[in-house]
Amino acid sequence: MKERRFGKTGLRVSEMGFGCWAIGGNAYGPVRDKDSLEALAAAWDFGVNFFDTADTYGEGHSEELLGKFLKGRARDRCTLATKCGWDFYTPSQKPASLLPGSPEKLNHTGHRKNFDTHYVRFACEQSLKRLGTDVIDLFQLHNPSLELIQKGDLVSVLEGLKKEGKIRFIGISVHTEAEALAVLEDPRVHAIQIILNLLDQRMTTKILPEAEKKDIGVIVREPLASGLLSEKYDPSHEFPKEDHRRRWVPEKREADWQKIQLIQKTLGSRILPLVRAALEFTLSFGAVSTVIAGAKTRAQVLENTAASFEPALSPEDVGRLKELYAQEEIFRKGLNPR
Ligand SMILES: NC(=O)c1ccc[n+]([C@@H]2O[C@H](COP(=O)([O-])OP(=O)(O)OC[C@H]3O[C@@H](n4cnc5c(N)ncnc54)[C@H](OP(=O)(O)O)[C@@H]3O)[C@@H](O)[C@H]2O)c1
Repeated sequence: MKERRFGKTGLRVSEMGFGCWAIGGNAYGPVRDKDSLEALAAAWDFGVNFFDTADTYGEGHSEELLGKFLKGRARDRCTLATKCGWDFYTPSQKPASLLPGSPEKLNHTGHRKNFDTHYVRFACEQSLKRLGTDVIDLFQLHNPSLELIQKGDLVSVLEGLKKEGKIRFIGISVHTEAEALAVLEDPRVHAIQIILNLLDQRMTTKILPEAEKKDIGVIVREPLASGLLSEKYDPSHEFPKEDHRRRWVPEKREADWQKIQLIQKTLGSRILPLVRAALEFTLSFGAVSTVIAGAKTRAQVLENTAASFEPALSPEDVGRLKELYAQEEIFRKGLNPR
């Protein structure tokens, strides 16, 4: 597994990381812990050393599973990244003095956005316990608003946690280009987490060059467009109840499917399967530190890590895929609003 610099942190991270949302069990349909642990073990054996999770994934379950997996393994061999900001705790699980979070801002599992400074400290303590570690390598704010990023107070809270030795580095996960630009303005932030995949290349124009210039670690999420680039899901596919992809509207499903057909046509028979092309495409950007494909099984991990071991996408193919995205109007449709 090839490793890359992680901005100015001094860390070396595996270029293929592991995204732990699905293994939490409340995002990508039902999962079995046995499969998840096998997937984690396969990733570890193939040299994956960057694991990205969040407290909200499975309401702590993803972090617990990762903590269980790491028990007895060399903790210093890996970079553990988690996030806070979605409050799923019931009143009996947290001190009464903490604010309840915003009832207007709920995610698909009904968790409330909460970036109250006392809550952030509480969430960090809980994540440390679940992960079974003394220190979190990268503690990220989980999609704060543009206003919060610009204010910068939360980064000051994270700096406090860093001074206390609870976290090593500071990260922010964002949705929009404006949010990403605001993050890159704050010199105290070490890493940014962004969406980048064959269907959504919006972060490649300004954000990647700027992150490289400022030496900020870049974590690429949703590299498979939440599994769409596996070609498994034509617009008629029905996702199970616990699957966040159920929320996708028919217009988006149709547009994404058309984009996939165009990508396949562009690549012709040069590379199969599309999953590989998708991951190699994201790895082709030098500013990217690690690509955290989500995986549920050992088989998916084997396929995803192969993108680092046996790259097959040529620079010409990468160029054609960028050109396709820039030129075809359909790529402006079905994107999440930003
Ligand atoms: N706001 C945020 O900060 C945020 C948001 C989203 C994600 N993330 C992070 O980024 C990570 C990656 O994003 P993601 O997991 O949402 O999306 P993704 O990596 O684009 O897609 C993951 C899904 O694709 C399918 N898949 C994976 N490998 C495959 C393979 N080889 N062949 C066929 N299907 C495969 C699996 O679902 P199926 O088998 O069910 O299709 C898997 O759950 C997450 O795990 C999480 O750590 C962060």
